[in-house]
Amino acid sequence: MKSVLNFGSINVDYVYTVEHFVRPGETISCQEYRRFAGGKGLNQSIALAQAGAYVYHAGKVGSTDTWLKTLMEDKGVDTGFVEIISGSSGHAIIQVNAAGENAIIIVGGANQLMSESDVQRIVADFEPDDYLLVQNEVNAVPLIIQSAKAKGLKIVFNPAPMSADVLNYPIGLVDILIVNETEAHSLTEESEPERIYETLNQRFPQIALVLTMGNKGAAYFSPQARFFQPAEKVHGVDTTGAGDTFIGFFLAELISTNDPKAALAYATRAAAICVTRHGAADSIPSRRELRTQQ
Ligand code: RIB
Repeated sequence: MKSVLNFGSINVDYVYTVEHFVRPGETISCQEYRRFAGGKGLNQSIALAQAGAYVYHAGKVGSTDTWLKTLMEDKGVDTGFVEIISGSSGHAIIQVNAAGENAIIIVGGANQLMSESDVQRIVADFEPDDYLLVQNEVNAVPLIIQSAKAKGLKIVFNPAPMSADVLNYPIGLVDILIVNETEAHSLTEESEPERIYETLNQRFPQIALVLTMGNKGAAYFSPQARFFQPAEKVHGVDTTGAGDTFIGFFLAELISTNDPKAALAYATRAAAICVTRHGAADSIPSRRELRTQQ
């Protein structure tokens, strides 16, 4: 069975529910404060596992936050490549406003400590045709992509959060690029989905693109196929982790069915459930929930 190796962040999310995002010079009280598990990497690993994929998470977490590693194990993630270190974990400060939107500050901490020898040792354990998944919340992303590609893995890259560095990453080695509209615009300077894909396709002819468009839906483009999947209409309370849920369910379904259209529909369903709940990792649905809520 094909496995997924996810080099990803592990964060403690400090979540503040507010009427509106705090403005420059303003001090406000929150309506509620909660601590959750998060990090784009952790969220995506849990989503993959809950969607039925075999996922190995590679990352680092501080010794005071081993509960995050335990949570991943409880959710079915293989944490054999998660290292406990003596420094601080990554964390995120998240405001969630009355519309369920978020504003996030991240602190890298342990997520920025992956060494070249860590990357090479971990990638060496995988087989050609396994999948490498990586976001832009850990260090050494170019090395991770290059090492995994050299081993023959299929590369899935989610350049979130977007940074100027991404423009110099080896995107030509990526098999599946998963971006939202803002990230897509940074990469292509285009806003319209077909134009985004055409621009990428001119530069990287083999790349498949998954474009997420929030409450409008998602689209898949590759040299072989193009599909659009409208979003489901739900009452959202917190969008945090919805993109990560989408990615985990999309990739798990793609691996098991080799059907990008079915994977897009499955991922859209999972993300719709995620936004109806608070928190990131805690709001990721199970496969059973997807079956029963159809
Ligand atoms: O994508 C959501 C995640 O982004 C949060 O869990 C937070 O940790 C930030 O990394």
